Amino acid sequence: MKFFVDTAEIDAIAELNDLGMVDGVTTNPSLIKKSGRDILEVTKEICDLVDGPVSAEVVALKAEDMIAEGRKLAEIAENIAVKVPLTWDGLKACKVLTDEGKMVNVTLCFSANQALLAAKAGATFISPFIGRLDDLNMDGLDLIADIREIYDNYGFETNILAASIRTANHMSECAKIGADVATAPPGVIKAMANHILTDKGLDQFVKDAAAAKIKIL
Ligand code: G3P
Repeated sequence: MKFFVDTAEIDAIAELNDLGMVDGVTTNPSLIKKSGRDILEVTKEICDLVDGPVSAEVVALKAEDMIAEGRKLAEIAENIAVKVPLTWDGLKACKVLTDEGKMVNVTLCFSANQALLAAKAGATFISPFIGRLDDLNMDGLDLIADIREIYDNYGFETNILAASIRTANHMSECAKIGADVATAPPGVIKAMANHILTDKGLDQFVKDAAAAKIKIL
């Protein structure tokens, strides 16, 4: 499973990228707002830093305007994936931009039917939102499993990009289901390293190393 980082914070992306943990980046208008940066400038910086796909989201609602915005975003760098919402207009924009050879990430997906339409429109990525379904007491991971089954039934090449990931557990569950990509905030990716028994075991090793006066350097 590929790891994308769901942020527009350059320092956080750089730290994970140095460790080889970044296969791509996803942003959205809320993350751009949080960064306090200009969308074109910060997106260019991210594209220069990261080799994999960098999703940049349109803000228009009409297909023709989304297409124009998507073309402008795609000019930033070769690794831009234009992100469009899963609306009828978004699907129209997806088809046009995909036919032009651009990567397209269809976002705000909350049902298997929506994912099926995105695949038919040629999306490179479909972004089902796990956490926001969980917030409504629905099961976001079930949606990932349903889309995996449907795409595999018919050999759709659209990549399942699990999004709205809130916990480290979501990451391993997505990997078990077979999501192609999971995008998560930097804190969630770092939290994957945590385990209470690791902390406990290390504490004992530190004590024993001191007691035995173990010295390596
Ligand atoms: O990139 C979109 C997505 O990951 C949003 O996550 O936590 O705002 O639901 P969240």
